[in-house]
Amino acid sequence: MAERVIKIGLLGSGTVGEGVQDIIFDDGDGLANKLGYRLDIEKIYTRSPKKKRWHAKFPGKFTSDPEDVISHPDVSIVVEALGLERPEDTEVVASYVIKALEGGMSVVTANKAVLAGFGREIHAAAQRNNTLIRFEASVAGGIPIIRSLGEGLASDSITGLYGILNGTCNYILSGISNDGKTFNDALRQAQELGYAETDPEADIKGFDTRDKVIVLLQLLYGIFLKKEDVETEGIERLEKIDFDYARKKLGTNIKLLGSIRRSGDKVTASVTPIMIKNSHVLSRVDGALNAVLVESRYCETMCFMGKGAGAGPTANSLTSDVISIADGARLTTGSESLQFDRDLDADTEYRHYLRFLVRDRAGIVSDILGHLKKNQVNVDEVLQLRHSTEEKAYFKKKLGLECSPDEILPFIITLEPCKAAAVKLTMEQIKGQDCMLAEPVLLKIIPGLPDVSGG
Ligand SMILES: NC(=O)c1ccc[n+]([C@@H]2O[C@H](COP(=O)([O-])OP(=O)(O)OC[C@H]3O[C@@H](n4cnc5c(N)ncnc54)[C@H](OP(=O)(O)O)[C@@H]3O)[C@@H](O)[C@H]2O)c1
Repeated sequence: MAERVIKIGLLGSGTVGEGVQDIIFDDGDGLANKLGYRLDIEKIYTRSPKKKRWHAKFPGKFTSDPEDVISHPDVSIVVEALGLERPEDTEVVASYVIKALEGGMSVVTANKAVLAGFGREIHAAAQRNNTLIRFEASVAGGIPIIRSLGEGLASDSITGLYGILNGTCNYILSGISNDGKTFNDALRQAQELGYAETDPEADIKGFDTRDKVIVLLQLLYGIFLKKEDVETEGIERLEKIDFDYARKKLGTNIKLLGSIRRSGDKVTASVTPIMIKNSHVLSRVDGALNAVLVESRYCETMCFMGKGAGAGPTANSLTSDVISIADGARLTTGSESLQFDRDLDADTEYRHYLRFLVRDRAGIVSDILGHLKKNQVNVDEVLQLRHSTEEKAYFKKKLGLECSPDEILPFIITLEPCKAAAVKLTMEQIKGQDCMLAEPVLLKIIPGLPDVSGG
């Protein structure tokens, strides 16, 4: 009997696309033995076929016309691994995905931005045409989190998810926290090692994590949000002194978390840097690693950790999705009628950290305390480490300040548990004062995260 062959069309031949070619061309026989059928790449779309590594061996498989992939009569599964060079590329790539689905092909994608922007249309096209869309590689690269949520936990009910979902940010934050680097030095090193893009904005402003949170909400609850629906704050205003205060005074570490929380029939989500106590499993996830903490009704708390990017892990996730489709496996996606509520946490009280950088003058601290008191926010402590002249000179240079370094006063205030709105209101009221040399940094401290270690 002829061997069954699954014919794949590949869009993109960059880091990830070539990773998929490596797996299938290098390990085709091994996979065929394991699977009982063969995976073959029929066509590969790239704008520059001759520059590609596998072109010399398989010139006939390469094309510079995406139609040769998405309209190929023999292709049953399209793997989409295209980059997005310009903002309008998101729509172009989404149109390729939808066209393939409309043509009866299933699609596997690594592209969180396309799913976050066009998820509703893409899932609807798959449903209409009785085809499948799989996206394991789009969130946390090599960690099989999508499959764990959509298959392994299909009969469970997810009540919370807290993820370190951006390796670049985690690499930068770990570099500041563990090695005492400045933000810019940590970013530069991330760029040199290929973790961060030349333009790192989407990572450090939290947009990449937000797209992944949106993809997870689509999977978990069938909720399709616009990007602006998710409160999103990046890491760009954090400085080494925040990590010094976190470690030396508060026993915490700072991580950028994508958070999803369900309460009753309501769901909320956000992306913010958060202070997590040092004993918590997420505070110890270092470097470019990703981690996802999941809280569910029956399995309680689980933590998934591993590589969130790179050719090997990401290509493995794409290829495994192809195998899942070939094997007829389906993801269970949420279809409960839950409501997204951006302000679900508005009444929850958290401890907060406020970091100020002011021009020293008499009465400044009592002035800030007065504003907090007026808004019924109780202060826990006012803390100040000894800051060297070099540290202050760093701020003078970074912020282009006229004053002498010794006039620069960094200090922090921690707050007793209170609602975030009252703190934000106070910050709005004081941030414009003459003495403020930079906008104050506001972080939630240890927001009662569940933990696998009970820490
Ligand atoms: N790299 C990772 O570790 C990783 C991890 C998780 C998810 N992802 C996702 O995987 C996808 C691919 O990432 P990558 O790292 O492989 O990117 P990449 O190395 O930049 O490769 C992207 C590919 O798409 C092509 N391309 C880029 N812009 C295009 C456009 N406007 N029109 C047509 N083709 C275009 C590229 O150029 P040519 O046409 O010249 O070949 C190349 O083949 C992205 O969605 C990314 O977010 C990547």
